[in-house]
Amino acid sequence: MTYKVILPAAGSGKRMGAGKNKLLLELEGVPILIHTLKVFADDEDCETIILAVNPQDEKEFTDLINKHHIEKSVSMVPGGSERQHSIYNALKTIKTDGIILVHDAARPFIKKEHILRLTGVTEEAGAAIIGVPAKDTMKKVMGGTVTETVERSSLWAVHTPQAFRISLLHEAYEKAEIDSFLGTDDASLVERLGHPVAMVEGDYDNIKITTPEDLFFAEAILKKRNI
Ligand code: CTP
Ligand code: MG
Repeated sequence: MTYKVILPAAGSGKRMGAGKNKLLLELEGVPILIHTLKVFADDEDCETIILAVNPQDEKEFTDLINKHHIEKSVSMVPGGSERQHSIYNALKTIKTDGIILVHDAARPFIKKEHILRLTGVTEEAGAAIIGVPAKDTMKKVMGGTVTETVERSSLWAVHTPQAFRISLLHEAYEKAEIDSFLGTDDASLVERLGHPVAMVEGDYDNIKITTPEDLFFAEAILKKRNI
């Protein structure tokens, strides 16, 4: 099943605190951005990569893509002030239907087998996301006090990619814009249409590199994969 992918890469990496876009930080000598791009560049089912980029990073990203011989066409669109705006800028450039994946450039460990399952489910269901069952006990806390212990068996931590029929994602983004709704993921915009979203079980190591300690986890994941 072929698909297109939007990679939001236009953040500033505040929580990483590296003084630059965290996607430029290296794991085993290769920038995080390139690790993620390679997954999709090497996947023959991936037709196009659309990268949302902060204009100040554009030249450095372009140089890295050339240096690391990413052969697939990568088009760049300017990022927005929020992740959702960056993705909408990319989505607006897509005029055909089919399947679109949205995947954080900061999650370099996504596996082909999970992309395949997601696109397969999306073909039938229209929308599918990847996640893992919650491991910790979850509680609701207000003002420093526990107000509720939430039943864990129905809770999942949500990752990317998230996959959609392109026409459905257009509709979801148009409605979010009209309603000034800002979600923390793309599926939440589709849920607002009343459209079901399927959950596909992924891997606990599909981490998003967010804070400095994630770099240690990421190096460990890479080492394990190279054994
Ligand atoms: N992103 C984006 N446009 C934004 C904000 C984020 O394209 N305005 C991208 C990031 O580059 C990242 C993904 O969305 O690949 C997930 O965001 P996050 O992990 O929050 O990255 P940052 O926003 O860069 O980090 P922080 O929130 O710590 O500043
Ligand atoms: Mg952010």
